[in-house]
Amino acid sequence: MCGIVGYVGFRPARDILLHGLERLEYRGYDSAGYALQYNNSLVIRKCVGRVTDLAAMDPGEGARATAGIAHTRWATHGEPSTENAHPHTDSSGRIALVHNGIIENYKSLKDRLKARGEVFVSETDTEVLTKLIGLELEAGGNLLSAVKRALSGVRGAYGIAVVSADEPSTLVAARYGSPLVVGIGEGENIVASDVAAIVAHTRDVVYLEEGELVEITTRAVHSHGSDPRMIRERMTHVDWNLSEIEKDGFAHYMLKEIHSQPESLRNAFRGRLDMSEGTAHLGGLNMTPERMKQIRRIIITACGTSWHAALIGKYILESMARIPVDVEYASEFRYRDPVIGEDTVALVVSQSGETADTLAALRLARRKGASCYGIVNVVGSTIARETDAGVYIHAGPEIGVASTKAFTSQVMILSLIGLALGRARGTVSRSEGIALANAIQEVPDKVETILGRAGEIKDLAREFTYASNFLYLGRGVNYPVALEGALKLKEISYIHAEGYPAAEMKHGPIALIDDLMPVAVIAVRDAAYDKIVSNIQEVKARKGRILAVATEGDSDIRHHAQWVIEVPEVADQLTPLLTVVPLQLLAYYVAVARGCDIDKPRNLAKSVTVE
Ligand code: F6R
Repeated sequence: MCGIVGYVGFRPARDILLHGLERLEYRGYDSAGYALQYNNSLVIRKCVGRVTDLAAMDPGEGARATAGIAHTRWATHGEPSTENAHPHTDSSGRIALVHNGIIENYKSLKDRLKARGEVFVSETDTEVLTKLIGLELEAGGNLLSAVKRALSGVRGAYGIAVVSADEPSTLVAARYGSPLVVGIGEGENIVASDVAAIVAHTRDVVYLEEGELVEITTRAVHSHGSDPRMIRERMTHVDWNLSEIEKDGFAHYMLKEIHSQPESLRNAFRGRLDMSEGTAHLGGLNMTPERMKQIRRIIITACGTSWHAALIGKYILESMARIPVDVEYASEFRYRDPVIGEDTVALVVSQSGETADTLAALRLARRKGASCYGIVNVVGSTIARETDAGVYIHAGPEIGVASTKAFTSQVMILSLIGLALGRARGTVSRSEGIALANAIQEVPDKVETILGRAGEIKDLAREFTYASNFLYLGRGVNYPVALEGALKLKEISYIHAEGYPAAEMKHGPIALIDDLMPVAVIAVRDAAYDKIVSNIQEVKARKGRILAVATEGDSDIRHHAQWVIEVPEVADQLTPLLTVVPLQLLAYYVAVARGCDIDKPRNLAKSVTVE
C-alpha cells in the first residue's frame, strides 16, 4: 500500500526521504514524489515508476532543504500518472500533502469546491483534502488548525503528512484508519507509515493513536489529538535492526524469508514451551486456566495467507481443545451481523496488524461482546493495540509481498494455543502434551532439512515454467496448505492456480485435468494418507501430472507420482509447518524462471490498509 515519509531536522531531507521510500518499496507502489521545504518555498518532484526514477530528478535548490515529505502511491482513485502522484498542493501551491487511505466523501466535497471555482489537476481524493486545507488556511490560523478543521469534514481513512512553505521546519501529521509512526531523534524527527523507513535513524518511536493530530518540529512533537499525554511518555523501542530489513545476500526478500523460517519458528516458541508439564505458557494471552475451560466457541478472522493459517488453526484447536471453531474472512464477517456471545473468543490473525478488513472485523467482534485476542507480527500495530490481549509471533520484519515466514509462525502460535487450551481443558494428557512439545521443538531442524533440498525444487520448477494452470490438493490439516500453495504460485508467477480439498475434486475440478495440468498433492503419511492416494489415482487416470509432497522414505508414493518432494516425518497436526515450505520454494523458483518481479508482484501491496 502507499508509503509516507516526512523529515524535519538538520540533515539533507531529500536523502533521508528517498532512503525511507526505498525501505517502503516492498509495500507496493506505482509512482513516487516528494515536497521539500526550502527558503520559504516548496520544491516538488514526482514521477510514475520507481524511487530510483524519482532520485534521478534534479532537486535544484531543494537539495539543501532540511524538511520535507515524500510518498509512494498505489493507485486507488485515478490511474498511475504524474498528476495523480503525491504530494498534492492547494491552489496557492504553498502547502503540500501526502496521503494514505481513502476519503470516502471526496466526490461531494469536490463538487462543492468546484462550485467555488477550485480547479483540480488530478483525479485523486487526496487533492480534494489538500484544497480543503488550503481554504481553511486562507480563513485564518496556522497549518495545524487548518488541517484540524479540514479533517473534521472528511469521512474515510487517512494517514497524512503536510508541509507549508510559510511554516519552515514544521510538519503536520494525522491518522485515522491508516497507520503513522513518529521516530524521535536528537534535533530531528521523522514520521512514516511504517517503522521500516525509520529504523536507520532512530529506534525510539511513538505510534500515533486513532484520530491523533501532531505537529512535528526539529525539537518536539506536539499531540493535538485524542491522547494529549506528553509524546515522549508513549515512546517505545523498536527491536528490529537494519540487517533484518536487508537481503543478507539472498536474491530476493522472499527467498531470505523462506530460509529464515527455522529461526523465525524458534522465535515463535522460545520461552513459551513447558517441557515438564507438556504445555505452553503464553503470557500475552493473559488467560487463566479457569477462563480457558469456560470458552464455548472460537471465531478466527483474517485475510489472505493469514486466513489460511487461521483455517489450519481450526483443525488444530478443534482436535486439541475440543472447542468449535469458525474461520471467517474478515471482509465478509464485518458486513454480516454475526452471532457472537460473551462466551465467544475472537482470534484475529494478521502479519501487519493494519489490514483494514481485519481491523474492522476485530472492532465488530469487540462491540458484540467477544473477548478479542491478536496473533500479530508487527509490534505496536493497530490490531495489536486494539485487542484485549494477544501473542506476538516474533517473525521479524516480513518485507516480501508474498507472506511466508509469518504464515508458519502464525501456525506455530496457533499450535501453542491449541496445546495450552488442550492441557487446561484436559483434552490433551500430560504425556501427549510432552510428546507434542518435543515435536514442536524439532520442527525448525526439519524445516532446515527441507531448505537443504532447495536446489532439487529449483530444478523441478523448470518443468512448470510454461504451465498456465495448476491444481493443489490436500486433505484435513493440509487442505489449507493446498490453498496457500496455490495462492503463493498465483501471486508471484501469475500462473492460475486453485487449491482444493482433495476429495472435492471429483465434484467439479476433475473436469479440468488433462496431461497438461500439473497437480501438486500433499500426501504425507498422516491419518488421511490412504484417502489421498486414492485421490491421486483419480488424477492419474485422467493423465494429470502429479507432484507429491510426501513423507521421507515413502517409496510407495513414487509409484503414483511423477515427481516427489520429501519432508521429514512429524506429528500430524504439525505437518503444515513442513509441507508448505516446498510449495513456497516451488512458487518462488517458478516465478524466477518466468522472470517475474518476486518482491514486488504486480497489483499487490504488502499491507492492505484500504477495504
Ligand atoms: C499473501 C499475503 C496476503 C496477506 C493478507 C493479510 O501472500 O501476504 O494475502 O496475508 O493481505 O495481511 P495481514 O496478515 O498483514 O493482515
